[in-house]
Amino acid sequence: MDASPAELAGFLAGGAELPQRALDLGCGTGADAVFLAEQGIETSGLDMSTTALALAKERAERHGVRIEWLQGDVLQLPLEDGCMDLVLDRGCLHHVAVSDQATYATEVARVLRPGGTLLVREMNVAGHHAHAVSESSLRSMVERTPLRVRSIVSYATAGSDRVHPTMLAVIDRD
Ligand SMILES: C[S@@+](CC[C@H](N)C(=O)[O-])C[C@H]1O[C@@H](n2cnc3c(N)ncnc32)[C@H](O)[C@@H]1O
Repeated sequence: MDASPAELAGFLAGGAELPQRALDLGCGTGADAVFLAEQGIETSGLDMSTTALALAKERAERHGVRIEWLQGDVLQLPLEDGCMDLVLDRGCLHHVAVSDQATYATEVARVLRPGGTLLVREMNVAGHHAHAVSESSLRSMVERTPLRVRSIVSYATAGSDRVHPTMLAVIDRD
């Protein structure tokens, strides 16, 4: 059994009900997507990397869950308007250039249903991340979109060599 993503488990446990449909943006090798599917949530995982998606598919098969895997760019989501209750981003947003983050937010708002939620979990290790995500960059990213920041919590997670500053943001769609 793989380790479960604790923040995601805590977020789901705090909701009145589980989302019916979720999208894992920049799903990588699919740990969060598989976890969502294991909760009975209809899950899609999107990544630009075919290598990561191949590993994600293998993981889903090992866990016996069905997931819709999409190869694509977070800036142009191959999904219908308003189809998702939850969009999750763990560690993808810092790959998106600051100049593209408003487009990212517009795309996420487009695929979320009204009342849906974007959950962003990012680390901010100086010098490691191309486009470190800060509270202020998140707030500016959602300006002029129907996304509203509900909460941003900063905390520390243990890495292999040091403690990493980490941020969990809950963002609602009007
Ligand atoms: C740090 S990894 C995180 C993977 C996974 N979310 C996790 O927590 O294990 C970032 C992932 O985002 C993907 N990615 C980066 N930019 C992307 C983009 N513009 N569109 C889609 N995927 C992207 C990368 O291929 C990579 O798999």
